[in-house]
Amino acid sequence: MTNTVTALNHMTRRRSLKYGPLALVTGASDGIGREFARELARRGYGLVIVARRLDRLEALVDELASAHGVAVDVLPCDLSQPDQVQDLIRTTAHYDIGLLVAAAGFGTSGPFTRIPVATELDMVDVNCRAVVQLSHAMAQRFVRRGSGGMVLMSSLLAFQGVAQSANYAATKAFIQTFAEGLRAELRPQGVDVIACAPGPISSGFAARANLVMGMSQPASVVAAATLNALGRRGTIRPGLLAKALEASFIGMPRWGRTLILSKIMAGMARGPDATAATDAPLPAGPANRGDLS
Ligand SMILES: NC(=O)c1ccc[n+]([C@@H]2O[C@H](COP(=O)([O-])OP(=O)(O)OC[C@H]3O[C@@H](n4cnc5c(N)ncnc54)[C@H](OP(=O)(O)O)[C@@H]3O)[C@@H](O)[C@H]2O)c1
Repeated sequence: MTNTVTALNHMTRRRSLKYGPLALVTGASDGIGREFARELARRGYGLVIVARRLDRLEALVDELASAHGVAVDVLPCDLSQPDQVQDLIRTTAHYDIGLLVAAAGFGTSGPFTRIPVATELDMVDVNCRAVVQLSHAMAQRFVRRGSGGMVLMSSLLAFQGVAQSANYAATKAFIQTFAEGLRAELRPQGVDVIACAPGPISSGFAARANLVMGMSQPASVVAAATLNALGRRGTIRPGLLAKALEASFIGMPRWGRTLILSKIMAGMARGPDATAATDAPLPAGPANRGDLS
């Protein structure tokens, strides 16, 4: 492990990167996190990439090493497990990480009462608990080194309640508020924080959340724009779709946003009819097994 760390730190230290030499990216096996890893490698960052699916992470290592010649280390971790997050923190203690991109996360859709509570709690653990745990450790390191950057994944759904996705929207509201507070607190200590709040993005997200997105943008619209805004802005809504949706909400009361987004979400959810309130669990589906399609 020490050799890997030394190699990672040496190979990347020569370059002058604002948040370098290394970036830790969670959720790098798919979608937005993978695009962040690609963009950071393009910019010359060495990477520590994290997710559960080792085969996908290893494929990304090969791709990034041959395309950009950067050092990439793979640390598989189930972020729903606090012990595994703690191991990740311990393992990276001697890595010279200057940037955290906390992109791992997932959602559910459909009636709250029909989704197993274990899935909803798992979501709180991955989307919120693990982000707090990792951010706490990284913020301490960044404050000590006098510089650092943090990208935390919010969402268009973070700014109001949304029926058929109430818990997911709440996890993103948590991250949005958390990022805003951390930004104000850490900025004087040289640490930049940004909340990234995209609209619908094509990725593995929809399949896992059991929904069909009518409109979406590619995951590539998120990474470069967000990294360029880090240090300049507190929140970014990357992509035309997020900007257009946000513009259409200007001046609208919060309850109006809830009404509209709840209708949109009901149209996208593939789960059982929202009016069929019952305690029966949903039939087995990707969002409800707690695993992936
Ligand atoms: N797609 C959208 O429309 C959209 C819009 C706004 C915000 N977001 C947010 O953007 C972030 C990335 O989503 P995405 O669209 O890129 O989804 P995605 O393609 O499904 O990717 C999710 C990533 O999170 C990882 N992950 C999920 N559960 C995990 C766990 N228990 N432990 C470790 N890693 C885990 C997955 O890796 P493994 O499965 O390999 O573990 C995967 O790499 C999420 O926070 C999401 O809420 C997405």
